[in-house]
Amino acid sequence: MAIFIDSSDPKEIKDLFAWGVLSGVTTNPLIISKERPGADLGEVIREVLAVSWGDVSVELTTETEKEMLDEAAQYHAWDPQRITIKIPMSETGLRVLHQLSKKGVKTNVTCLMSMNQAYLAALAGATYVSIFSGRVRDMGYNVAPIIATTRAILDRENLPSKIIVGSMRHMMDVNEALENGAHVPTITPPILRKMVWNPRTIETINEFNTAWKNRKK
Ligand code: E4P
Repeated sequence: MAIFIDSSDPKEIKDLFAWGVLSGVTTNPLIISKERPGADLGEVIREVLAVSWGDVSVELTTETEKEMLDEAAQYHAWDPQRITIKIPMSETGLRVLHQLSKKGVKTNVTCLMSMNQAYLAALAGATYVSIFSGRVRDMGYNVAPIIATTRAILDRENLPSKIIVGSMRHMMDVNEALENGAHVPTITPPILRKMVWNPRTIETINEFNTAWKNRKK
């Protein structure tokens, strides 16, 4: 079991890795455009690599097979052990995935909204298959059975792909992903911080510390 952080902010990533609960990072072009406008992608990813450990997903932004393979080769060279090439799901994406997986490059097939897509990606050799919880719900569908049936078929057929569930909007989405068999929830920093916090915990700690300060000496 593992948790990844869905962020490209090195300050947040460093701070949250210090908790000892994280084992990888996922980024995407939207996150990087929002969090690091104008920054060079190579610099962003090198900074992320420096303050984290485990797999770091970097998404392809080109759309033809040749461009995607060239882009993947460039990213892979930044850290062949840790860089995980995030491939958006499509027919071209599957062709790229198949070639990268044959070379032993780590891959994360992304933007998945269904079990069918996740199954194809797993068959083509994906290291990770990323199901987008919030975006599935935005369409009015229940994501829980998609996660559960994907996990069941991977287990039944002994496919080694791990299920990442991302696109988390609420803390309950994390619970739902875990309960339904996700191997790795990827969580934004605000949601991860909310997982620590509970009003009754704060109240209890305050009660204990107040009692200690006011004890008879
Ligand atoms: C996962 O790997 C993606 O980066 C991410 O969770 C997408 O989430 P969004 O729906 O908030 O864009």
